[in-house]
Amino acid sequence: MRIITIAARKGGSGKSTIAASLAAAAHQAGEGVVVLDLDPQKSLAEWYERRELGGVRYQARDGASLAELLPKLRADRATTLVVIDTQGDFNTDVTAALRVSDLCLIPVRASVLDVTAVTRTVEALRTLGRRYAFVLSQIMPSSPARAEEAAEALVKSGPLAPVIVASRADYQDAMLEGMGVTEYAPTGKAAGEMRELWMWTKAELAR
Ligand SMILES: Nc1ncnc2c1ncn2[C@@H]1O[C@H](COP(=O)(O)OP(=O)(O)O)[C@@H](O)[C@H]1O
Ligand SMILES: [Mg+2]
Repeated sequence: MRIITIAARKGGSGKSTIAASLAAAAHQAGEGVVVLDLDPQKSLAEWYERRELGGVRYQARDGASLAELLPKLRADRATTLVVIDTQGDFNTDVTAALRVSDLCLIPVRASVLDVTAVTRTVEALRTLGRRYAFVLSQIMPSSPARAEEAAEALVKSGPLAPVIVASRADYQDAMLEGMGVTEYAPTGKAAGEMRELWMWTKAELAR
C-alpha cells in the first residue's frame, strides 16, 4: 500500500481537484483507492456524496487518527493506494500525513506569488525528510511561456512532475459530478493529463 499526500502551503492551488482526479485515474488503472480528507473543511465530502460510480472510497479524518487507521488499511488487501488531501496551511494534521507519505505532490500555479510560496512548503518537507515533487497546476494553455518560467524557477527547489495540469472546464465539471476527469470526459485533454500524472506517480512510487 502506497500513500500520496497532496499538500501545499497555499490555498486554491488545485490540491483537492488533483486529489479527486488522480484518485479516480488510479482506480481506473486498477488500484484499490482510499481518499483521506484531512482538510477540516472536508473539501471532498460533497464530491464524494455526488459520486455515483463507486470504486473510490472516502473518509474524512484528522491527523491523529492516521496511526490507527493506516495499519487497518494495510491489513485490508483491497487497498493499494491512499490519497490524502490536505488544507492550505500546515498544521499537525498535515505533518502527520506527510510523515507517513511515500510521496508528496505539491500543486503550484504559474504565478510569482505561488512559485515564491513553495519555499515554505519545501522547508517543511525537507525538515521531515520526505520525498516530494511539484506539479504545475491550473496552467493557462494560452500562455505556455509563463508555465515555462515557473518550471525553471521550481526545479531549483526540487523535482517537477513532467505533466502539466492545465486550467480546463473538465476539472470543474467532473468535481460537480463526483467524478475524476478520466471518468467524466475520458477522451478529453484533462483526462490525458491525469492518466499521465498517475502513470508518472506510479513509477515514482516504485523507485
Ligand atoms: N486544473 C484546473 N482547471 C480548472 N479549474 C481548476 C483546476 N484546478 C483547480 N481548479 C479550481 O480552482 C479552485 C481551487 O481548486 P482546489 O482544488 O479547491 O484547490 P485547493 O484544494 O488547493 O484549495 C476551485 O474552484 C477549482 O475548481
Ligand atoms: Mg482543498
